[in-house]
Amino acid sequence: MPTVDGLAFGGDYNPEQWEREVWEEDIALMREAGVNVATVNVFSWASINPGPGKWEFGQLDDIMDLLADGGVRADLATSTASPPPWFSHAHPETLPVAPEGHRLYYGARAEYCPHAPAYQEAVVEMASKLAERYAGHPALAMWHVGNEYYRSCFCDLAATEFRTWLRERYGDLDGLNRAWGTTFWSQTFTDWEQVLPPRACAETPNPGHVLDFRRFGSDARLRLFDSEAAAIAEHSPDKPITTNLMVTGNFAGNDYFRWGEDLNGENRLIAVDHYLIPGDEIAYEPQVAYASALSRGLAHGQPWLLMEQSANSSAWRGGGFPKRPGEQLRHSLGYVAHGSEGAMYFQWRASRYGTERWHAAMVPHGGRETKTFQEAVQLGQWLKNLAEVKGSTVEPQAAILLDYESVWAFDTPGQLSSSMAPFPELRRWHAALWKRGVVCDIAHPAEDLSRYPVVFAPSLQMLDDDANLRRYVEGGGTLVVGPFSGVMDRNEHVHPGLPGALRDLLGVRVVEHVPLREDESVALDDGTTGRLWAETAVSEGAEVIATYTEYPHGPAVFHRRIGSGRVWYLTTRPEDLNPFLDRLDLEPEFPDLPTGVETVRRTHDDGRSYLFALNHTDQEARIPAEGRDLLTDTEWTPTKPLRPNTCAVIRQHR
Ligand code: GAL
Repeated sequence: MPTVDGLAFGGDYNPEQWEREVWEEDIALMREAGVNVATVNVFSWASINPGPGKWEFGQLDDIMDLLADGGVRADLATSTASPPPWFSHAHPETLPVAPEGHRLYYGARAEYCPHAPAYQEAVVEMASKLAERYAGHPALAMWHVGNEYYRSCFCDLAATEFRTWLRERYGDLDGLNRAWGTTFWSQTFTDWEQVLPPRACAETPNPGHVLDFRRFGSDARLRLFDSEAAAIAEHSPDKPITTNLMVTGNFAGNDYFRWGEDLNGENRLIAVDHYLIPGDEIAYEPQVAYASALSRGLAHGQPWLLMEQSANSSAWRGGGFPKRPGEQLRHSLGYVAHGSEGAMYFQWRASRYGTERWHAAMVPHGGRETKTFQEAVQLGQWLKNLAEVKGSTVEPQAAILLDYESVWAFDTPGQLSSSMAPFPELRRWHAALWKRGVVCDIAHPAEDLSRYPVVFAPSLQMLDDDANLRRYVEGGGTLVVGPFSGVMDRNEHVHPGLPGALRDLLGVRVVEHVPLREDESVALDDGTTGRLWAETAVSEGAEVIATYTEYPHGPAVFHRRIGSGRVWYLTTRPEDLNPFLDRLDLEPEFPDLPTGVETVRRTHDDGRSYLFALNHTDQEARIPAEGRDLLTDTEWTPTKPLRPNTCAVIRQHR
């Protein structure tokens, strides 16, 4: 965890964009707001390394000293996310190449090819120099490597690294040909030199090829992160090292569960960026809990840190989309409720120029009088009051399984139905559980799931076998499987005998998939309806719980007991998830709270427990609990009203 006292509070701070007089004011405002961490040097390559072999650390020294003197700790970034023009100009091969084969120019950010040796060497040199210089600096709290890794490149250097990666995975060309099923359309490779990134081709490309390139890209970016992290650790072995993962509910650039293996290591930290999707048709409010559920899942239940969120409108989301009064406070507490060790923002002070000149900030262009800044001051006070929460954890009642590879598989060409995307479905289940007050994690299907009483697998197309899920069910767990799950192996080859890898476990044989039109629904004899998808299926040992009343006829919902565990299979996507959820034994701690009044509990090993209550509705609510509300430092009683759009954090002992 960042070496700060209490919870982390602050944001990206770019003083290099400002005159020195403003720096003094920044520190004064940070102190007023209670900011204790600032993320610096994220996009400063051009200042600290303005030319080949030129290093100018004077400005960064001043910034670090300024922070130290002001009592603010630094989340020191390595600035490698945005090579400056001189670098791209000197090393044109480091500029990324698009799938169509043209090289992209510089002029924005993240303009690098992750596979270019010149870039790879430069970032290690940069990280090493920074670590050597600042390892002992009193402001240093933690290291922030790169920024939101996502860049892909389709150049010849990428081709070379891709081939090496493929050789490691498949051994020889026969293995690769088998995995990609190259006998289809006569795509067989006879020499490694013929193997390229999936560049734009005349028709739909080979799905295995596309899928492997995404795996490879994620691994290559992780290797980049690792190379910097290793260089830092040599000089600065005792400070946490992290990078900011994107947990917005539609981002699948990297396999973060693989990254998590790395970021959960000693002196590492899971840190995340979360930007709300406006006008989101699935659910707006539960997004904070969703992003947190994923972060907690990546951190295996251990504390994690919200590194970036927006204080108000985000310039990237079409400008509009302001946060209403109280919203950023409520959302920030939402992340903390769900296990974040603080609430950080992009960014501290609004930029006067550049693409993000209208992006929200803790200090907007209007300065300290703004509601946004005043709320930042309020939040700073609250987080100070909540310092003792640090280190406590959340105990989820359920998990929803996410496999980034299954998400990628859905993006490959040749889908049976374009409406069966995994992410929206995962978020729909999450939102339904959230509305019922059930706290859940987002977890990976291959991990040890035994700590979750119920596990949902709404959309898991790719599974080699059922081993891990079977272990979970045999150990007494309840598994709920959505349609079209387990149908393909890791190479995207359809398993013989549908539904595939899960057939034996489910005790169900699927005869035929019945994708539905978008406006179509199917009726079940329990009064519910399904949409997007149906199947004709027969029992091979499972009990039939509900049946289609018309086409496709036959069983729709199956249930099976295995030892003390149970497994459910839904052959359609229920229009309303509640009737199904009613069948499960999933009671929240406070079952009588109205929808939108959220409670989450964080607990220390010694029994100190904090009940976070967040009222997302426009009605007063009552939380039937007693203890001390740490936000207002007053006693909480069951009769006390929790006003609309406000929060309480009630200290109790369990
Ligand atoms: C993040 C990024 C920041 C800033 C922010 C604006 O994704 O890390 O640098 O661009 O978005 O919303």
